[in-house]
Amino acid sequence: MVGWIERAEKVLFQTYARFPLVFTKGEGARLWDDQGRCFLDLVAGLAVCNVGHCHPKVVRAIQEQSSKLLHVSNFYYNAPMVELAERLVSLSFADRVFFCNSGAEANEGAIKLARKFAKDRGKDSSFEIITMNGSFHGRTMATLTATAQEKYHKGFEPMVEGFRYVPFGDLDALKEAISPRTCAVMVEPIQGEGGVRLAPPGYLKGVRELCDKEGILLILDEVQTGMGRTGTLFAHESEGVTPHVMTLAKGIAGGIPMGVVLATEDVAMSLTPGTHASTFGGNPVAAAAANAVLEILIDDNLLEQMAPVARSLKQGLERIAEKYPELVVEVRGRGLMLGMELKEPCRPVVEGCMRRGVLVNCTVEKVLRLVPPLVITLEDVEEALQAIEAAMVEAYG
Ligand SMILES: Cc1ncc(COP(=O)(O)O)c(C=O)c1O
Repeated sequence: MVGWIERAEKVLFQTYARFPLVFTKGEGARLWDDQGRCFLDLVAGLAVCNVGHCHPKVVRAIQEQSSKLLHVSNFYYNAPMVELAERLVSLSFADRVFFCNSGAEANEGAIKLARKFAKDRGKDSSFEIITMNGSFHGRTMATLTATAQEKYHKGFEPMVEGFRYVPFGDLDALKEAISPRTCAVMVEPIQGEGGVRLAPPGYLKGVRELCDKEGILLILDEVQTGMGRTGTLFAHESEGVTPHVMTLAKGIAGGIPMGVVLATEDVAMSLTPGTHASTFGGNPVAAAAANAVLEILIDDNLLEQMAPVARSLKQGLERIAEKYPELVVEVRGRGLMLGMELKEPCRPVVEGCMRRGVLVNCTVEKVLRLVPPLVITLEDVEEALQAIEAAMVEAYG
């Protein structure tokens, strides 16, 4: 019988450079492949499975909801969607939320919202959105344009009109770039795809102050940093800043597709009936899963429990960096969104870890990115650190 990989290579678009692994089962921080091999997963569906694979509460919520109602049009209401909206509003700066299906779709919504908000205030020529070099906001045409990394634009030109880029972390450059054409600034609190890059302390606060002074919106893309990933429910909480608009996706529904746009009352009201929509947005099964995720993060104290584990992983990486200064540039990140920048490409390290049963990710070629499920244990951390060190020594030592 021809295997899954051979069959996949014949019929799937060749958009991903996949590793030759077929996963069949997940539980907590572990995955099993079709050969029965077990892996410690520090990729977590790329910062998606924050509460762990197949968390019993998420599975139960999906099972119960799917036996009652799978889908209903947004012409009507459904209870899990309303409950989730209430929870998100009570846990954030936002007064209203809009549901969709992915990070890119949430960011599209935020971009449309910012343009419409400016138009509603008579600023007809204010449609430009400023984003940061190295950012990542999605792969649809507008979010791809918002993504200020040329490598992703190549071959898809012309890009969408109305985006402008400035260096991440540079308030003076941002100030300089804001003009009467600007309607919003869009920024990730920590750049994920850009290499787990943090802005200098006080940067987000400065961005918000500039936005307030200029009467433009601050959109925070928390698609990757949200849902507990950095140690607080949303990354901006630890910076003492709130945005006008925030986007979420990835971890929100425990592995079920969902995106959300959250906004303050006055901003949200710019999207009136008929101006924006998404067929599957607020789907009851996805919403039930997301309600369970929030219950695990908040009511079951996962956010508190993850702190010592996150500290131990970062300290362990720092010890490796100290031991091998010839191999490591630096360790950075917050909570369980950590990056170790290497001096050489990290693909051989990723492969070496995989041979040792540990899944890690590599971004911008030389940054080893660790975004494990938040349920990872101290023993898991030890196992991961041993694999990473051994793989690094094997590849470059
Ligand atoms: C910060 C950020 N925004 C947006 C996206 C796009 O999300 P999606 O792949 O769900 O469209 C990603 C995905 O990696 C992301 O990290």
